[in-house]
Amino acid sequence: MRLAKLGSRALVFAASTGVCLACGERGGQSLVRSDTTGAGAFTISSQPLGPIPPDDSLARPKSPHQIGFPIALTDSVIPKNNLQTPEKIAFGEKLFFEGRLSANGTVACATCHNPRLAFTDGRPVAVGIDSRVGQRNSPTVLNALYNQFQFWDGRAATLEQQAGLPIVNPVEMGQPNLDSAIARIARIPEYRAGFIRVFARPPNPTDLVRAIASYERSQASFDSPFDRYMAGDSNAISASAKHGWVLFRTKGRCNLCHTFADTTTHPTRFTDDGFHNIGVLIVRHRVVSLVRQAEQAIAKGDTIAIDQAAIGTPMSALGRFLISRADSDIASFKTPDLRNVMVTAPYFHDGSAATLWDVMDHYNKGAGTHNPYLSTEIQPLALNETEIDDFVALMASLTSPDYRELGAKELARQRQVSRTSRPQRDSARAFGPKPIQPKPPKF
Ligand code: HEC
Ligand code: HEC
Repeated sequence: MRLAKLGSRALVFAASTGVCLACGERGGQSLVRSDTTGAGAFTISSQPLGPIPPDDSLARPKSPHQIGFPIALTDSVIPKNNLQTPEKIAFGEKLFFEGRLSANGTVACATCHNPRLAFTDGRPVAVGIDSRVGQRNSPTVLNALYNQFQFWDGRAATLEQQAGLPIVNPVEMGQPNLDSAIARIARIPEYRAGFIRVFARPPNPTDLVRAIASYERSQASFDSPFDRYMAGDSNAISASAKHGWVLFRTKGRCNLCHTFADTTTHPTRFTDDGFHNIGVLIVRHRVVSLVRQAEQAIAKGDTIAIDQAAIGTPMSALGRFLISRADSDIASFKTPDLRNVMVTAPYFHDGSAATLWDVMDHYNKGAGTHNPYLSTEIQPLALNETEIDDFVALMASLTSPDYRELGAKELARQRQVSRTSRPQRDSARAFGPKPIQPKPPKF
């Protein structure tokens, strides 16, 4: 097949002409996607979409009997208008794996949030309907119930709001609107009966996203070696991880954003729920023209338009700016929680870091030197190789028991990769002075 011969290269075909925008090659008719959304052109992955992952034991609601499980915090994030019931959670789980919510029946939430991969897809950026490639890395759904904002740029305030957007995104599940997703599943007697049983009314978009959000709120994931260490088992993590934990709050400066303090209302999370520009690939993007494009094309607060820009266009690189329109938010992204990070590679909003060693090299050199919007907290860290290994050991200790084996395998794999590939490493900068930050351009 033509795509297989082209290897791992992703191709962009203009919907109207069938010409690959990236390479000038002409695609066969089968590669040309019809333009039903007005978005124009899609990148088609050379690693096509697989079948929907199985709804197995890893997908089940998690027990509150986990070491480190935050009872009060968990209660506080359940909305009054969508209380948890076992029936609703089970119904939401079914919908999470339901391909028939997508325009052609092939894509479910679980396609990109696969329980076997800790509710991610293992790809740098997500691939959706007709193997269309998005701009962003799929975050895990584990512990997403605690997020103050959903998505890398926080454009959704709640899980209910979030759940509707992938269904209608042309690169993800491809429905023209939520009503057509509802119409599709309302034809299935089992779902008609399910909506009546759980919500006492026929299928409708509000209850659809409520059920899915309810299921996601059952995915609290703690009980890691680190939790056992914090609970007093001094043998639960290695000496290296313990040293990593000290460095995390001192020389590494990680706690400035990945806050973890028992005195806050978020005692068990590794995030400040804030947005920061930490210099991920911003230099490559033509910021000024992207900002102009966003200001012209997207009305402030138009969530659907922002969603399409974030998932399907290079404006994705503008991050939080797409929502706030504040220059200081250009290329700012949400601080992600670090739980289970060992099993959610690759990393960052664009999947640009293949291993945790790459992430550490990124921070160690103080990231993008030509980036006027870089957070002032980012600076060269002068970490040596042993210290970097200690950070990785700490992050590996944040893996929940469901993924213990996968975590061990993944740690070994990443260590192997890091022996020959350290594309982000720049020791001269890591051990050098903090560079002078350039002034922002005029718009
Ligand atoms: C084609 C792949 C794909 C599909 C299908 C998909 N997602 Fe996602 N999901 C992503 C990507 C990529 C992001 C990050 C997008 C962004 O931040 O702009 C994301 C973000 C999220 C988040 C936010 C997590 C966080 O930490 O901010 C949640 C929750 C989520 N998805 C749940 C769902 C649900 C529920 C469905 C089904 C209704 C779904 N996803 C369908 C790829 C997908
Ligand atoms: C100035 C705030 C800030 C500091 C300091 C910081 N981080 Fe981050 N971290 C972020 C943000 C924001 C992101 C997401 C950035 C993106 O994707 O563009 C992130 C992403 C990550 C990721 C990727 C997670 C994923 O799921 O993709 C890891 C791992 C990480 N940080 C670890 C660390 C470690 C270890 C340190 C200390 C050496 C640290 N961070 C310091 C804000 C910060």
